[in-house]
Amino acid sequence: MKIGFIGAGKVGFTLGKYFAEHGITLTGYYSRQREHAAQAAQFTGSNCYEDVDRLVKDSDAIFVTVVDGQITQVYETIINLDISDKYICHCSGAMTAREAFPDISQTGAYGYSIHPLFPVSDKFTTYQKLADAFFCIEGDGKHLQEMEDLLKNVGLRYRVIDGAVKTKYHAAASVSSNLVIALIDEAVKLLGECGFEDGEALEALTPLIRSNIDNVLSAGCAGALTGPVERNDVGTVGKHLQCFETDRERDLYKSCATSLIGVAREKNPDRDYTDMAKILQG
Ligand SMILES: NC(=O)c1ccc[n+]([C@@H]2O[C@H](COP(=O)([O-])OP(=O)(O)OC[C@H]3O[C@@H](n4cnc5c(N)ncnc54)[C@H](OP(=O)(O)O)[C@@H]3O)[C@@H](O)[C@H]2O)c1
Repeated sequence: MKIGFIGAGKVGFTLGKYFAEHGITLTGYYSRQREHAAQAAQFTGSNCYEDVDRLVKDSDAIFVTVVDGQITQVYETIINLDISDKYICHCSGAMTAREAFPDISQTGAYGYSIHPLFPVSDKFTTYQKLADAFFCIEGDGKHLQEMEDLLKNVGLRYRVIDGAVKTKYHAAASVSSNLVIALIDEAVKLLGECGFEDGEALEALTPLIRSNIDNVLSAGCAGALTGPVERNDVGTVGKHLQCFETDRERDLYKSCATSLIGVAREKNPDRDYTDMAKILQG
């Protein structure tokens, strides 16, 4: 399968370099700015295309690695070319293949979303860590196996998901990464109210955050859970609820702590958390 990229950005560079290093033939890159396509071509030992038609013609699979808001527009520029039997892929976590490539079945091409659950932060170095990434694939059933084989043959882990749950899947990624930042930010602000400078607060929290995440990853959520909710320490949780300056912060605490009761019950099935649930609902 010869692969071409439209969009010489972080993901285009990274996937292309990883594929090339694992024996996949790249045709090359087309991008909005020619110099970025040339840079990516040089980085991956492939070609820089001046026009998209030629790239499409030369490639069996076209990865549209442009920003999410441009994917459908780019697709619409290639549907008048002969794309029958080609695989058109995007890497967005937020859209299904069907959403990104409307009416693709009428073109004779096959659409796929191939999303790395991974922060691709640098054009030139992230490919070295890509083997750690987990991918989720969805799209046209007819050639899904070929897309699975593409990832499998280069040593990448993946799962096929149904397009119907793609948004839920993306929400899970967001909860586990972006939303955790909101909680850490709240903790930094609370320490600020205790007299800590921002940098100092983060420094103080680092061992707690690191070892907690390590424990979650090795022992699972129930295995890692400690603290007043798990201990059923209603008095301490009651005191916490009184120390917040705004309802928004208190509601955030209540909502997260209520979720933790479910995890605590899993860890301690014989413990009665009724009073804890009541104080968090009040
Ligand atoms: N970065 C991540 O952590 C990450 C993780 C998972 C999935 N993704 C997904 O990967 C995709 C690409 O993201 P990215 O982070 O690689 O973005 P990026 O670094 O901003 O790169 C996007 C590239 O697309 C090119 N481009 C934009 N509009 C174009 C157009 N109309 N025609 C041709 N090229 C165009 C730009 O080209 P020029 O440079 O030539 O202007 C830019 O280099 C997105 O769907 C994103 O959701 C990203």
